[in-house]
Amino acid sequence: MSFAIPPAEFKNPRAEHDFVGRTCSISAVGAYVPERRLTNADLEKMVETSDEWIVSRTGIRERRIAADNEMTSDMAAKAACQVLSKANVSADQVQLIIVATITPDMPFPATACLVQDKIGATNAAAFDLEAACSGFIYGLEIGQQFIMSRTYDTVLVIGAEKLSSIIDWKDRDTCVLFGDGAGAVLMQNRTNTHGLLTACLGSDGSKAPLLSMPGGGCQHPATPESVAARLHYLKMDGREIFKNAVNAMQTAAKNALARCDLDISQIKCIIPHQANKRILIAVGERLGANSGQVFMNLDRYGNTSAASVAIALNEAVERGRIERGDLILMLVFGAGLTWGAAVIEW
Ligand code: ACO
Repeated sequence: MSFAIPPAEFKNPRAEHDFVGRTCSISAVGAYVPERRLTNADLEKMVETSDEWIVSRTGIRERRIAADNEMTSDMAAKAACQVLSKANVSADQVQLIIVATITPDMPFPATACLVQDKIGATNAAAFDLEAACSGFIYGLEIGQQFIMSRTYDTVLVIGAEKLSSIIDWKDRDTCVLFGDGAGAVLMQNRTNTHGLLTACLGSDGSKAPLLSMPGGGCQHPATPESVAARLHYLKMDGREIFKNAVNAMQTAAKNALARCDLDISQIKCIIPHQANKRILIAVGERLGANSGQVFMNLDRYGNTSAASVAIALNEAVERGRIERGDLILMLVFGAGLTWGAAVIEW
């Protein structure tokens, strides 16, 4: 039986595969950021940098930093509770929790299981997803599969990070860029809408060394030597990441739009991974977008990795930049390398 999805000015790529199932939508979005603000002026006291350099090279003015006793799972649980309250769904109705993160509370068990307990989702399966800053769109695509296949009706996808725990606060090349926070969405079938139309995902592991945390895994387990060599901190080749991010995000975006027979002018709002203002401007220009289409909030939060797009989406919705029925384009890029673009009828 096919569902009553209204005709649209775009192609639903799933129709190419004789799609007759149900669609998957985001029924609510929420976010949480810690109270503590770390401003560029604060960073000037920690490393040799300046507000002028940080703002002109990145667009970032401040970022949020979690309290010492505030874990990734705590922030994820707060974002999740907000989503459930907005959607009027109780925690015991959640059937699956996916947490995208590179800063789990611990290597195992999964942070998603800790969130399951903290929010009281007594009927949910739970697992973590590691696709770095691309994790949120990877999570949406996975969540969608469970909804469309009718395996589950109610899926929580959360991006959450305590990046401050893996930042080398002596390294000015990286410490000015990142912040902590969490964003969450509830995925369900909503009738009369196409929802998540497509997600173009990609990866290139040959460029893994460009952005990584070398220590803490089986290659470099924690030892006094690995700690002394500062292997348990995020390492990045900023210039190469910059170039790869611009290329990958614009290519993924073009592919996603082409799959849906959409032109960039039909997109109400582009929600990109909030890495660097110059990256987002370059991607927007290459897509032929006008500056008003590209949503940015990195000036206040910096790069929050897997949480970034979810936090931005929540703010765009709260500010009225996105309304039901609008077409939105989400873009991500991160370590792996990984990247993705998703088109959604909101
Ligand atoms: N303050 C002052 N000077 C600095 C700082 C700082 N915080 N950091 C670097 N510099 C210096 C460098 O040492 C260099 O000095 P030199 O010319 O004497 O060697 C100079 O500034 C210019 O350095 P560049 O690396 O060329 O600066 P660039 O314009 O490329 O900006 C930046 C650096 C901001 C890191 C940029 O490359 C970038 O944003 N890259 C992408 C980073 C990113 O988005 N990563 C995350 C994506 S994936 C994920 O989210 C996990």
